[in-house]
Amino acid sequence: MDISQRHAAAVMPVQPMETELELVRGEGPYLFTPDGTRYLDLATGIAVNAVGYSHPKVLAAIDEQVHRHLHLYSGTAYQQVLVAFAEALQKEIGPSYKLFFGNSGTEAVEAAVKLSRFATGRPAVIAFRGSFHGRSLGALSLTDSAARYRSPYEPLLPAVYHVDYPAPTRLGMTPDEALAHVQQQIARLLETDVAPERVAAIVLEPIQGEGGYVIPPDGFLPWLRDLTAKHGILLAVDEVQSGMGRTGRMFAYQHSGIEPDLVIMGKALGGGMPLSALAARTELADRWTPGAHGTTFGGNPVSCAAGLATLEVIREESLMEVATQLGEAALRQLAPLAELPCVKEVRARGLMIAVEFAGAEGGARAQQVVTESLADHMILHMAGLKHEVIRLMPPLNIPAGVFADALDRLSTIVRRVCSAN
Ligand SMILES: Cc1ncc(COP(=O)(O)O)c(C=O)c1O
Repeated sequence: MDISQRHAAAVMPVQPMETELELVRGEGPYLFTPDGTRYLDLATGIAVNAVGYSHPKVLAAIDEQVHRHLHLYSGTAYQQVLVAFAEALQKEIGPSYKLFFGNSGTEAVEAAVKLSRFATGRPAVIAFRGSFHGRSLGALSLTDSAARYRSPYEPLLPAVYHVDYPAPTRLGMTPDEALAHVQQQIARLLETDVAPERVAAIVLEPIQGEGGYVIPPDGFLPWLRDLTAKHGILLAVDEVQSGMGRTGRMFAYQHSGIEPDLVIMGKALGGGMPLSALAARTELADRWTPGAHGTTFGGNPVSCAAGLATLEVIREESLMEVATQLGEAALRQLAPLAELPCVKEVRARGLMIAVEFAGAEGGARAQQVVTESLADHMILHMAGLKHEVIRLMPPLNIPAGVFADALDRLSTIVRRVCSAN
């Protein structure tokens, strides 16, 4: 039996395989098959490997920690590496926040919902259409990017309300219209469906990830911050995909100048190791009484060592500035594609880059581009509610020339796919 047959015989089919590749090794931005064929990874394990596959500083930090101890329940004893990582994150988010570590993005979302309910004593949560917050039942109740994720598992959490995300291309509106539309929806929701004093939190992705790398209008987060502050509602930003330097700031919300109550982190946080975190304003964090939440593996020391080293690499190598520059260059390079009738929009914030395809054929075209890119040894992912978007999330330290060449090849593929259909 080859590996795909063994996989099918032994592993549940619930998580579908996106390629038929067997990959055995990673180096920088590349992945290798057993025969040494090289693929450029523009998906980085869905925005996880922010500094590539083999950064020496990250590997050394893991190696050192592995030889100290692999795991210690974070409630058993104090650990330097966990505290040092929490302090490093405080430097990025603000000294008046405290951290709780988990393992995966969905767990950090669960923690955010639980802390919001606990600290406010209110039941309801508002989330956005097209959002992805994870698949455990609490987080899934917020997720709204595909019926197949939700429907089989109903009933989900009660008192979760969804409103439109200000996604101009999805709504067929200008950014200003989209913002006004969402403002009206939220105002109506708070008037007719749920009283503001019953709402614990509004949870959102500052840039929707799975929803299609949707960048909301500039005024959206400041408006939400004012609204939530007025009603004592907590504002929780899910930075699981957009965080750790990817957008040119450590966290995407930092582009808007607001201070959220809760920051949800995962994916790249652990530098390739499983790790997530919830940051909460100290005043909220200190209200969460001991024992009200917990985890066995969260804050694993090897994951914290890898995450701390990755954060240091992002700072030492100025990778946020690099992400900004590479993102702007990518936008210039891909912009001509937007003139094709089959392309609706090209957009980017740092190294969250999207090409959205237009019309009923959009999903099929995006799939074709992903398939042809794979044949050209580039790994890409789709996104968007109809899978009509290709998203690029290369490592932040991808060499500029390598990336520019990949975008040239991608442009050629997009033009070919658009002219063929
Ligand atoms: C914005 C966002 N939140 C939460 C999650 C869930 O993370 P995990 O798959 O680690 O549970 C994801 C995963 O894609 C995500 O993109």
